[in-house]
Amino acid sequence: MRAASLNFRDLVVLRGQHGRAVQPPLIPLSDGVGVVRAVGAAVTGFAVGDRVSPAFFQNWAGGGPPRDLEIGRLGGPLDGVLATERVFPASGLVHVPGHLSDAEAATLPCAGLTAWSALFGDAPMRVGETLLILGTGGVALMALQLARAAGIRTIVTTSSPEKAARVSALGADLVIDRSATEDWAKAARAASDGGVDRVLELGGAATLPHSIKATRVGGQIILVGNVTGNTAELFLPAILTRQMTLRSVTVGSKQGLMALNRALAAHAIHPVVGRAVAFDDAPEAFRALEAQATFANICVQIGD
Ligand SMILES: NC(=O)c1ccc[n+]([C@@H]2O[C@H](COP(=O)([O-])OP(=O)(O)OC[C@H]3O[C@@H](n4cnc5c(N)ncnc54)[C@H](OP(=O)(O)O)[C@@H]3O)[C@@H](O)[C@H]2O)c1
Repeated sequence: MRAASLNFRDLVVLRGQHGRAVQPPLIPLSDGVGVVRAVGAAVTGFAVGDRVSPAFFQNWAGGGPPRDLEIGRLGGPLDGVLATERVFPASGLVHVPGHLSDAEAATLPCAGLTAWSALFGDAPMRVGETLLILGTGGVALMALQLARAAGIRTIVTTSSPEKAARVSALGADLVIDRSATEDWAKAARAASDGGVDRVLELGGAATLPHSIKATRVGGQIILVGNVTGNTAELFLPAILTRQMTLRSVTVGSKQGLMALNRALAAHAIHPVVGRAVAFDDAPEAFRALEAQATFANICVQIGD
């Protein structure tokens, strides 16, 4: 392994809150990149020296998710990538685009692919549509970069003027600083002709009711995250009167990861890396994630 990156879910796993199937002892983290050291005799498509990433779901090649999806996740219940060496079946690996650094490539299997699936999975967004993105975590910023490349207008909410300046510099069309604009849903509606086409809903319990208000009639909310909690209270008429779609995304398949990699190469997109820490400092990276003192993904450099 050469690099790994942290996702919010890794914190949930570490706290022992990811359900009974995810139990210690466990090698943490799902997202990583490495270089092939050796291949089995029957392996085709990979050679010693190839740079590769393991797919988040080792059991989801493409199409719809398998019914036993849960058992195929890296970083719980399967061992993850915060390790110097790992063995994977060839069927669970993809090649990494050559233009990416190890740290950049390490952000893709979960965070990057989730953003891809939410924008271009089952119901691809179209040029000129407006996407509302909540926050500036790893999934959010990958979505921003992909949306920009696809000609999709972006509105991003964030929590401070400092983060607002950073996300503006990444090219968001409108940034709403929640510390200054409490009713961010109203602001998003006002800036999008009666409501946004799609929301990348990463906040969960506290944000979902507001995301519904921000969405246009016939729009979509893609439920991805639960940073603010698990149990939301919803005013159903706000949904019933909008002919809207509420859909969840669970990372995505290996085929999706390969499509994301092709898109990143074609548009020369470099995922944002918030910061990188050394292997021995991984516990500190978890603490920063816990304090939400992060912007984009935190990466762990493994080896030289
Ligand atoms: N369904 C899936 O397949 C899938 C895949 C990946 C991640 N997820 C989930 O998606 C969520 C985000 O993951 P991540 O790894 O990108 O997390 P992350 O890097 O920890 O980022 C979370 C961001 O959420 C924002 N936030 C915090 N409190 C908020 C609030 N009250 N309202 C709005 N935004 C708030 C913060 O950005 P600001 O400070 O800029 O507001 C923070 O940086 C997590 O719940 C994670 O479990 C789901």
